[in-house]
Amino acid sequence: MYDFHPKLQTPICKKLGIDYPIIQTGMGWVSTSKLTAATSATGAIGFLATATQTFSEMKTSVREIQELTDNPFGINVRTDSPDIEERLNWAIKAGVKVVSFAQAPKPEMVKKLSDSGIVTIPTIAARRHAEKVAEWGVDAVIAQGQEGGGHTGEVPTAVLIPQVTKAIDIPVFAAGGITDGRGLVAALAWGAQGIAMGTRFLLSDESDVPIKIKQAYFEAVVTDTIRTQSIDGVPQRVINTGMVQNLERNRYLKFPRAAKNALKFRQATNTSFLDLLREAIAMKKNQEMTWAQIALAANAPMLTKATMVNGNYEIGIMPTGVGLGVIESAPTVLEIIEEIMAEASQCLRDLTASEEKN
Ligand SMILES: Cc1cc2nc3c(=O)[nH]c(=O)nc-3n(C[C@H](O)[C@H](O)[C@H](O)COP(=O)(O)O)c2cc1C
Repeated sequence: MYDFHPKLQTPICKKLGIDYPIIQTGMGWVSTSKLTAATSATGAIGFLATATQTFSEMKTSVREIQELTDNPFGINVRTDSPDIEERLNWAIKAGVKVVSFAQAPKPEMVKKLSDSGIVTIPTIAARRHAEKVAEWGVDAVIAQGQEGGGHTGEVPTAVLIPQVTKAIDIPVFAAGGITDGRGLVAALAWGAQGIAMGTRFLLSDESDVPIKIKQAYFEAVVTDTIRTQSIDGVPQRVINTGMVQNLERNRYLKFPRAAKNALKFRQATNTSFLDLLREAIAMKKNQEMTWAQIALAANAPMLTKATMVNGNYEIGIMPTGVGLGVIESAPTVLEIIEEIMAEASQCLRDLTASEEKN
C-alpha cells in the first residue's frame, strides 16, 4: 500500500508481523476462512470464528486460510468447548500464530499458548478484566466498549479505552462502534495501538452474510440496536428486530413456556434435540441462569445461524455494533483497509498542520 502516516505503524504491527494496525475480529458464522484470509492478505489481520465450528470444520477452515495466504491470521476460540485442549494442541502444531477468545480465557490456557510462541489477544470489557489477563501474560487485549457488536460490556468505548491503556502496559486494540480512519486516530489518541472491528467487516464484499440480511444492516440507523440479555442471558448487542422485542417481553418466562418456545425455534433452525440439550447443559454448568433462560438461550447460536447464514430474516437475530448506522455499502476488505489508512493518515497530517499554524 502507498504512503501512510508513520505513526500508524505501531509496535504491535511488528509483533504480529502485519502492516496495518487493524484486526478483523472473530464473528460466529460470519468470519469464515474466506473473510479471514482476505483480511490477512491485505496486511491487516483476520480472525477465523471457530466458536461456532466443529473441530473438523475448524481444521478445514485453517487449512483453507493457509492455502490462500502466507500472512499471519488468528483463530477465535470458545474457551468452554469440551474439546478446547485438543483444538489448541492442533492449532499449535498447524502453525496458527495468534489466538483470541470468545469468552474469558483461563490462565493455564494463556500459559500453554505463550509457551508455544503463540500470541494471545483476549477481548475485555472492563479495566479490572484487562488487569487480570495482563497479569496472566497475554500479549495484547482488544478493549471493547459497549457500542460493539455481539456480547458486549457496559462501559462506552471513549471511556474504556483510555482507562485500560492507562491501567496496563501491554498493547491495546480499541473496539466498539469503530468503522473508519478517524476512529483509528481517536484510538491512538486514547493510547491504543490499533483498532479491532467486527461490524465493518461483516458488511464487506468477502463476507458471505446473505444480501437480504446485509440490506437490513444498511437500512438500520444507529439507534436501531439494543443491548439485550434476553437472547442467551449475557448482554449482547443486536439489531432491535420484532423477534428481539418479543424475547425482551418474554424475558421472565416460566420454564414450560420457555421450553415450548425453544422447541418451536428448534424446528425453525433445524437443530437436533440432542444438540439443544447439549448446549443447555453446557450453559447451565458455565452460567448463573435459570432453566427457563437456558431453554431459550441454548437455541441462540442456531437462531443466529438461521439469520446470518441461511438468510432467515423472520428469525431476526443480527449481532451488530452501533457503527452499522454509518455504513452504507459492502466494499472489499482491501478497499476498507485502504480507506481507513488513507483517512487516518490525512487526519494525522491535518492535526499536525493546524498545530504548526497556531
Ligand atoms: C455477527 C457477530 C458475531 C460475533 N461473534 C463473536 C464470536 O464468535 N467471538 C467473539 O469473540 N466475538 C464475537 N463478536 C464480537 C466481535 O468479535 C467484535 O468484538 C465486535 O463486533 C466489535 O465491535 P464492532 O462490531 O462495533 O466493530 C461478534 C460480533 C458480531 C457482530
